[in-house]
Amino acid sequence: MAESTLDVRHLPKAQGYALLESQLISVLDGVTDEVTIMATVSCGLFHGFGLLWAGYYRVVSPGLLRVGPYQGTLGCLEIPFGKGVCGAAAAQATTVIVPDVHAFPGHIACDGRSRSEIVVPIFDGEGRLTAVLDLDSEALGTFDRVDAASLERLLARLHGTPRK
Ligand code: SME
Repeated sequence: MAESTLDVRHLPKAQGYALLESQLISVLDGVTDEVTIMATVSCGLFHGFGLLWAGYYRVVSPGLLRVGPYQGTLGCLEIPFGKGVCGAAAAQATTVIVPDVHAFPGHIACDGRSRSEIVVPIFDGEGRLTAVLDLDSEALGTFDRVDAASLERLLARLHGTPRK
C-alpha cells in the first residue's frame, strides 16, 4: 500500500473531504469488513483534519450505542439513545452539528477539551440505523453544513449503503 496519512488542513474544507474520500475509497477497495472500514475512516478524518476525537458508536442493542473503532482520547464506552450529542443523533436519525458543546444540554464530556462536534448517522440497506460517526474538535464552531454534506456522502460511499 503506497498511500500515506494525509493532512488536508491547508485545503478548503470541501476539497479536503474530496481528497480524503478518494484516498479512503482507493485504500478500502474491495474491503467489506466494517471494522476495517471504520478504523480506516477514523484514522483518515482524525489525522486529515487534526481532530480531538474521530470514531464510531455502533448500535449494539435497541436504544444503545457502544464505542469503536476510534482515534483519540478515551471515549465513553456506551451511550443510550437520547443522551448527549451521539444519543440525540441516533434518536433523531439525523446529523447533529454542535458549534459549542457547553450550550448543548446533556452533552457528554468524555474529554474536557472538546469544544464543538458533529455526529452523523449511518444506515443499512433497509434504512435501519447501524452506527453514528462522531467528530470532536478543540475549537469552537469547527463543523458546518459543508462537513455534514461531505461526511454524509463519504459515509454512504464507504459503508456502501444508501442513506435513509
Ligand atoms: N461528545 C459525545 C460523547 C462521546 S465523546 O465525545 C467521544 C456526546 O455528547 O455524544
